[in-house]
Amino acid sequence: MKFFLDTADLAEIEEAASWGALAGVTTNPSLYARIGGKLDDFHNHIKRICDIVGPDCPVSAESVAMNRDEIIADGRELADIAPNVVVKVPTMVEGLAATHTLAAEGIPVNMTLCFSVPQALLAARAGARYISPFIGRLDDIGENGVQLVENIVKAFKLYGITTEVIAASIRNLEHVEKVMLTGCQIATIPTKVLEQMIIHPL
Ligand code: E4P
Repeated sequence: MKFFLDTADLAEIEEAASWGALAGVTTNPSLYARIGGKLDDFHNHIKRICDIVGPDCPVSAESVAMNRDEIIADGRELADIAPNVVVKVPTMVEGLAATHTLAAEGIPVNMTLCFSVPQALLAARAGARYISPFIGRLDDIGENGVQLVENIVKAFKLYGITTEVIAASIRNLEHVEKVMLTGCQIATIPTKVLEQMIIHPL
């Protein structure tokens, strides 16, 4: 399982990269807002992240548009920033249609905010390179997020689907350990949890 860092903080990205633990970055406008960023500077910030991690490290950048034409236009702009940009698109009808078009143009898409196996299968069929099931948010409403990751991995294996599964909305070490055992390809984790992974009371 590879680790992506779920942040917009450049210092955190530089530090994780120095540990050799960084295979990618996922970010979104709310993570950017959390570090004081402004929406109209989001694309410039994605460029700053790409410059730090280099061309071999995928950087997921989320479109905040809500209809297919706007998502497609935004996705094309994001993809123009650097060759390693992956356009993050919400798992919804408009997102599926946009993913279908962007993927046909060779633009990699990470379908985000996935909460069910059928959604994951549709994302894969639309051409998504990655699918991001959200563990913590499912746990928050009394469902089992890790079980969803396990089921998606199983379904994809069954049908020979190559879309990579990114376990997202990870809140703690237990989530990391459990998703490792599902066979999912990637976990995107916040810096706080990455730090916890190396620390042990002994
Ligand atoms: C990943 O791509 C998402 O940005 C992230 O994991 C969201 O997690 P949250 O539930 O903490 O917002």
